[in-house]
Amino acid sequence: MDALQAIIKRRSVRRYTDEPVSDETIQELCRIALLAPTDSMSQAWSLIAVTDAGTREALSELVIDGGAKYFAQMRPPKEGTSAAEHSAWAREYAEGAIGSMRKAPAWIAGLLVPRNLMPNAKDVERDANMTSVGFMFENLMVAARAMGLGTVPMVFHRFHEQRFKDLLDIPDEVEVPLLSPLGVPEEFPTSLPPALQKIRRPWKTLVHTDGWGNPLQSAD
Ligand SMILES: Cc1cc2nc3c(=O)[nH]c(=O)nc-3n(C[C@H](O)[C@H](O)[C@H](O)COP(=O)(O)O)c2cc1C
Repeated sequence: MDALQAIIKRRSVRRYTDEPVSDETIQELCRIALLAPTDSMSQAWSLIAVTDAGTREALSELVIDGGAKYFAQMRPPKEGTSAAEHSAWAREYAEGAIGSMRKAPAWIAGLLVPRNLMPNAKDVERDANMTSVGFMFENLMVAARAMGLGTVPMVFHRFHEQRFKDLLDIPDEVEVPLLSPLGVPEEFPTSLPPALQKIRRPWKTLVHTDGWGNPLQSAD
């Protein structure tokens, strides 16, 4: 699959099979990810590939539980439900939506490793570092799609950030903005879920010509 097709066909994959992925493939994906542009050539990044079965299991539980916390916050409780009932609903929803990630043969974490090169412009440096980590992760996700593998950028681990860092021995100063399962999907989604499709803005409303306020297509 060529690069354009891989970009077009990449979709967030949330349902996985337990089909194995070789260490060579995982390493090749990491190598390609790290070809991304990096501010000041700082390489303020790293990846952790998790394949050990016990660690994957602990990680999956933490992510699914973090997902439940996310859904409990993002979806309003049904009228008349108690906080405990709403939490139980969110837990069940997370199980249905991402429970199959337990089967994925690997998880990949994208790390921001500060290099402290710009002491007088720390915010600029951090934003540039974070952007670079995003580019790196996109490389990985697009390359994975080209190889027939699924990914989804996730932040659910951040609802249990310290537990997550302890599990992988990540030092305090290192941030983990992104995490993804890596594996063979049950199937590749060909479109967004209906709820997300509904809120997708037409791309022409997001492209302005010669300055803000002149989009290719009006938003309304
Ligand atoms: C920074 C970032 C964080 C995300 N976090 C999550 C997440 O925690 N859980 C999840 O299921 N999807 C997450 N997503 C995936 C988005 O929901 C998804 O990219 C978006 O709905 C568009 O769908 P697509 O990736 O199939 O194009 C995240 C995406 C980005 C860019």
